[in-house]
Amino acid sequence: MYKILSKEYLNNTVARISVQAPYIAQKAKAGQFVILRSCENSARIPFTIARADTNTGSIGIIYQIVGGGTLELDSLSVGDSLNALVGPLGNPTEIEGINYACVVGGGVGTAIALPIAEALYKQGTKVDSIIGFRNKELVILEDEFRSISDNLYVLTDDGSYGVKGFVTNGLEDNILSGKTYDRVFAIGPLPMMKFVSLLTKEHNIPTTVSMNSIMVDGTGMCGGCRLTVGGKIRFACIDGPDFDGHQVDFDEAISRSKMFRESEIKSREFACNLYKKEI
Ligand SMILES: Cc1cc2nc3c(=O)[nH]c(=O)nc-3n(C[C@H](O)[C@H](O)[C@H](O)COP(=O)(O)OP(=O)(O)OC[C@H]3O[C@@H](n4cnc5c(N)ncnc54)[C@H](O)[C@@H]3O)c2cc1C
Ligand code: FES
Repeated sequence: MYKILSKEYLNNTVARISVQAPYIAQKAKAGQFVILRSCENSARIPFTIARADTNTGSIGIIYQIVGGGTLELDSLSVGDSLNALVGPLGNPTEIEGINYACVVGGGVGTAIALPIAEALYKQGTKVDSIIGFRNKELVILEDEFRSISDNLYVLTDDGSYGVKGFVTNGLEDNILSGKTYDRVFAIGPLPMMKFVSLLTKEHNIPTTVSMNSIMVDGTGMCGGCRLTVGGKIRFACIDGPDFDGHQVDFDEAISRSKMFRESEIKSREFACNLYKKEI
């Protein structure tokens, strides 16, 4: 079970794998995620289900190598099996009744945004997608987004590809040019989702964000993914991962995301030495 059926690199630090998981593939909906363990004693890592294929009984995961856990996952090859995989977890993204949506993805957040944009497009929603990266080398999933968007805008921070600027610039330009979005979906680094939400609040556009909080069990038991939404305590794994971007306390979420920085640095250094890789 959980055999890796294919693996390809989308850029130097982002890879896409497909994993044999027929039961998860049958049930998965856009916005849901899995938690996997690469080897017996590995950390549990949450990843969005980027694709579910009931014909082959497989799911797709797109991961960015950022630390010890993802380096360990990346050490596995086609034919190897994951030690454990649970899902689908979390609530599917609510997409019903939306006529015109803007899907905004930043960095590897574009991988999480892709199934949502695809589900919207397939149900007949008009979809504008705005995807942003630090530079040309990091651009991923452009063709995939083009095939499921009515309009696609690619931006890079340094202008080395597409339009120069941040995704918030692209979104603001579209809003000011008169595009009347029913809802914006923003997925990416916490500061990006914070600033998209501040912008859409100014323009009264309902906004969904996908919270990538630190998760351990994924079932509401450990408290790791706690966040504050509309003044109330919520758990990203069971109440989310999607929330109203105008209600999320992003500053608290950013501070909580740095809680384990020291041990993350140690684990990354250890894994870089073990796998002889620089990240
Ligand atoms: C619901 C959800 C869906 C996600 N989907 C994707 C995806 O599709 N592709 C992708 O590349 N990444 C995704 N992530 C983020 C991914 O889980 C982290 O990048 C990964 O856990 C990092 O592990 P690490 O050991 O390599 O890095 P570490 O060095 O341990 O951490 C690097 C950073 O990753 C984050 N992180 C660490 N551990 C966890 C954890 N257990 N849970 C969540 N975040 C953590 C922290 O912000 C940390 O600062 C998702 C996160 C969540 C919560
Ligand atoms: S991951 Fe443990 S409560 Fe959400």
